This record gives sequence, C-alpha cells and structure tokens, in this order.
Amino acid sequence: MEVINTVAALKARVAAARQQGKTVGLVPTMGALHVGHLSLVSRACQECDFVVVSVFVNPTQFNNPDDLRTYPRTLDADVDLLTNNTKADVVFAPSVAEVYPTPDTRVFDLGPVAQVMEGAHRPGHFNGVCQIVSKLFAYVSPDKAYFGEKDFQQIAVIRQMVSQCDFKLEIVDCPIVREADGLAVSSRNTLLTPEHRAAAPHIHEVLAASVAKVATMSPDELTRWTIDEVNKNTLLAVEYYEIVDALTLQPIKAWTDTTSAVGCITVQAGAVRLIDNIRLTK
Ligand code: PAF
Repeated sequence: MEVINTVAALKARVAAARQQGKTVGLVPTMGALHVGHLSLVSRACQECDFVVVSVFVNPTQFNNPDDLRTYPRTLDADVDLLTNNTKADVVFAPSVAEVYPTPDTRVFDLGPVAQVMEGAHRPGHFNGVCQIVSKLFAYVSPDKAYFGEKDFQQIAVIRQMVSQCDFKLEIVDCPIVREADGLAVSSRNTLLTPEHRAAAPHIHEVLAASVAKVATMSPDELTRWTIDEVNKNTLLAVEYYEIVDALTLQPIKAWTDTTSAVGCITVQAGAVRLIDNIRLTK
C-alpha cells in the first residue's frame, strides 16, 4: 500500500487506475483507525477495484480548539493497520497546507438536515465536513464513497452536498460497529478515562431498551425517558436526544409522522463527546 501526501500525486495515481479500467472507492477518515473504519475499507475493497483511504484531521470541521488539539493522530499505526488487514491501494495523508493552501471560504447551503442536532450544537461543523469531503471527491472522483452510520446526520448532510454540487457518485452507508459491550466504536473512545469507558456502554443499553417502549410511549415521552435513563449514570450527561425522521432528520411528534424513526443521542462522558443512534421504527 502506497502512502501519498500530495494532491497531484493522488490524482496521478487515481488516473492510472482509471486508465486500467478500474472502479474507484474512497473511504474518508480522520485517522486513529479502528475496526469500524476497517469495516468500511473492507466493504470498499469488495465493491471497488481501487481503494483510497484518506487520513486527515480536518481543522475546518472542529468548532472546539481543544477537540482539534487532542484529536488522536496515529498515522504510522493507521498505515500498519490498513496494510495488515485490508487490500486498500492508497493512503492519502496530506498536510493542512496541502489541502488548504488558502482558506476555504465556501459556504454550503445544506438546508434543514444540517440545522438540527449536531448542526445546532456545533456551528460550522457540517460546513467544514462538506469543505473537506467535497475536496476529496474532487481529487479522487470516486464511483463510491463509504461512511459509517454512527454519524447518521453526517451522511444525510453529505448526500445533500453531493446533490447540491452535482457529484456523480454513490454514497454507501455502513452499519455501526460496536465493542463487545455495545459501545459504538469511535476514535474518541481512546480518550475516555477508565471510569468513563466503563460507564459508556450504558448509552447503547438504554437506546436498545428504548425500542420496546415505542409501543407504549409517544416520541416526546420516549425522549424524556431515554434522557433520564442515560443520565442515571452520573458519569454521563446527555447533551441532546432527538427522535427524528430518518430522511429529513426533523423531530417527529407522533410515530405516524414517519415511516422510519431514528433516535440520535450525544452524551458528554467527562471530556469526551460520544454520539450514537438507533432505529426505533423501520
Ligand atoms: O467522519 C469523519 O471522520 C469525518 O467527518 C470525515 C467524513 C472524514 C470528514 O473529515
């Protein structure tokens, strides 16, 4: 597997693969790779002839300087993990100056999907995500790009950006990968203290238990119940929990408002912000 640091070299490598008639898959990541990322890369390798994994901690999507500073950076280990466990062809690991030689001032019109939940709690976050993802799409012109459903809203926002920018590619959403105790796998899990790591599986426990309550509670009642149950563990503090339509991401008032309801949660576990979600109705 080849590690490429410049946009010019990446474009040349992808063009050579295209010349050979290969289909191209892209897995965008911020590194600190784990089994969740490996599942995306494996799927990309099954479905595409040539696979690029990008590893780039994108500064424009961080609205909290401490979060950007402490975000784990483990490029050597990431390359080893990909080399030993996947058939990915290229790791694209550029510098910030390579990606942003001048500040990116583009503002994406992402509509209602980007205004709720993470969009409301992390101003500018999704605009930054769209800045980097649109650049990666322009460099690689992938046939398919792979994203994990843990970041459920991110996928909806990226679909919106793809339609706005008229990119011709397929967005493939891949299921959440969980630790044996149910905690959604995340690069940020490595930043948890042992106490918070032990508390964190409670989030998925509550979400999983909430599915059975759909039969007896309204969305508002279930929202309250879920927040109270998670907060019962004093090491966890719910930032928000919303039950939304899976496509529009707008909150629902009645189960009949949607064909598919998803519960999306963000929890502060000490200094670490964890997100998770669950399908409540199909
Ligand atoms: O989900 C992530 O890791 C990031 O938001 C992404 C899509 C790689 C863009 O930086």
